[in-house]
Amino acid sequence: MSKYQLSESSICIKDTDLPKNKLNILDSNIIHGIENNFLRQAYNKFLNELKSNTKFNEKYFINLHKKTFESLYDFAGIYRTENMTKKDSLFCLAINLSKQSKRIFDELSKDDYLKKCSNKKEFANKLAYFQGELIALHPFYELNGRTLRLFCDMLCLANGYKGIDYSNSIYNKEYIKASIECVQYADVARLENIIFNGLDELEI
Ligand SMILES: Nc1ncnc2c1ncn2[C@@H]1O[C@H](COP(=O)(O)OP(=O)(O)O)[C@@H](O)[C@H]1O
Ligand SMILES: [Mg+2]
Repeated sequence: MSKYQLSESSICIKDTDLPKNKLNILDSNIIHGIENNFLRQAYNKFLNELKSNTKFNEKYFINLHKKTFESLYDFAGIYRTENMTKKDSLFCLAINLSKQSKRIFDELSKDDYLKKCSNKKEFANKLAYFQGELIALHPFYELNGRTLRLFCDMLCLANGYKGIDYSNSIYNKEYIKASIECVQYADVARLENIIFNGLDELEI
């Protein structure tokens, strides 16, 4: 068993991978249902709040996690202070999180939140780089995947694309393979392919 798993972290109910939650729910199916409801509401809320000058900065990213899950979890919107792994992948060390996060969001800001991309290929290439960095960062104890995909979908919507359809790649485990390659080898090629195939222009 690898070290630093979710079930060993301080946020979980002892010997489970279920986060301690404000509703004291002990059934993982019920928790997942509630999380997914909150996520759906968050998509609507953040879509409605999108403006042409929205800054997709670190504050915005943290706020997505906080506003989506704060009625359920104390750790919503707070970076982890423990190291974490999934299988053989070690995510960014907790001690480096704040510095690495700032670096990523500085780069995204210098890239004008991807506004200067001239076509879908270039947009998918850049978005894969940033999504890969966020996958490797894994800054929160839980709900990183859903939060960073929400963040990337808002970036898509601000740039004339629909939210990305990940359904195939999540179903056939390509998304996990791509994540492993991002975290362990800094290789985003598989993720770029997933993003390119799931990306479509907004119909206006
Ligand atoms: N073995 C792995 N190696 C690297 N990254 C992984 C691995 N398994 C899952 N991931 C990444 O972690 C994300 C899940 O993180 P998590 O915090 O549990 O978010 P969520 O609960 O929203 O799925 C996945 O979407 C994937 O990107
Ligand atoms: Mg999870």
